[in-house]
Amino acid sequence: MKIISTVRELKEYLKNINLSVGFQGNQSIGFVPTMGALHEGHISLIKKAKEQNDFVVVSIFLNPTQFLKGEDLDKYPKKEVADTKLCKLSGVDVLFFPDVDDIYTKDEASILAPKARGFVLEGESRPGHFNGVLTVVMKLLNIVNPTRAYFGKKDAQQLNLISLMVRDFFMDVEIVPVDTVREKDGLALSSRNAYLSKEEREEALKIATSLRNATAMVMRGVLDSKEITSKMREILSPMHIFYVEILNREFNQISHVEIGNTVILVEVRVGTTRLLDNIWL
Ligand code: PAJ
Repeated sequence: MKIISTVRELKEYLKNINLSVGFQGNQSIGFVPTMGALHEGHISLIKKAKEQNDFVVVSIFLNPTQFLKGEDLDKYPKKEVADTKLCKLSGVDVLFFPDVDDIYTKDEASILAPKARGFVLEGESRPGHFNGVLTVVMKLLNIVNPTRAYFGKKDAQQLNLISLMVRDFFMDVEIVPVDTVREKDGLALSSRNAYLSKEEREEALKIATSLRNATAMVMRGVLDSKEITSKMREILSPMHIFYVEILNREFNQISHVEIGNTVILVEVRVGTTRLLDNIWL
């Protein structure tokens, strides 16, 4: 596995890979952008990228522009050594570890999130967060120029906005959604789970319980969004709830669940930690 830390070196390296002898034409490149502190969720993205491409690039970049003032940028878990090992074991070809100065200049033009869609759900309580996400993803996609890029369904709004950006800017990359990986007890894996105390982790299980319950209600034929979300709120209380929403795959609110076209999303705060999860029905 090659470890590269500058944009110039990575671009040069990938150009040579694509020209390398023994391959017919260009090789496909699968790209997995991350912020590090890798877990099985990230690894499942890497595995899928390995399956579908000749060559896999993973980036680890703790992107400052997607954190608001007072958020956890400084305490976000950093595990460079373990991350490098995991990438090597997972068969990653290139690990890209850039510095902030290499990705951003001082007077930066930013790619804005679509006005309304970037400021609802997670974007409502984190205004500007998705501007940072889209800006960095646009930069990384332009640097790597992958055939396919892999994003977790766990961050459903992020996945939706990135898909819209790629469509709106006519970008030549396939965005591949990957299912959420969970602990045995249902808790969705997240780098932020490391912040949870034992009691908080116990409390956080209610998120998966509320989603399981919603699925069970739908299976029983209850399709009314209000009825489902109010039961979910009951299960989640007394945690602080940012939102519980039932949307279609275009991310518009729907009054009734449409099987095959619905996402149920939850974001709560447990102690001081934000946790989000969702289920696709
Ligand atoms: P990060 O939180 O490190 O997540 C990197 C990728 O892993 C994202 O696509 C995310 O949806 C996916 N992921 C996280 N937990 C997962 C789980 N339990 N199962 C499956 N996939 C999971 O998301 C970001 O970084 C950043 O916003 C980024 C896109 C890298 C831009 O900075």
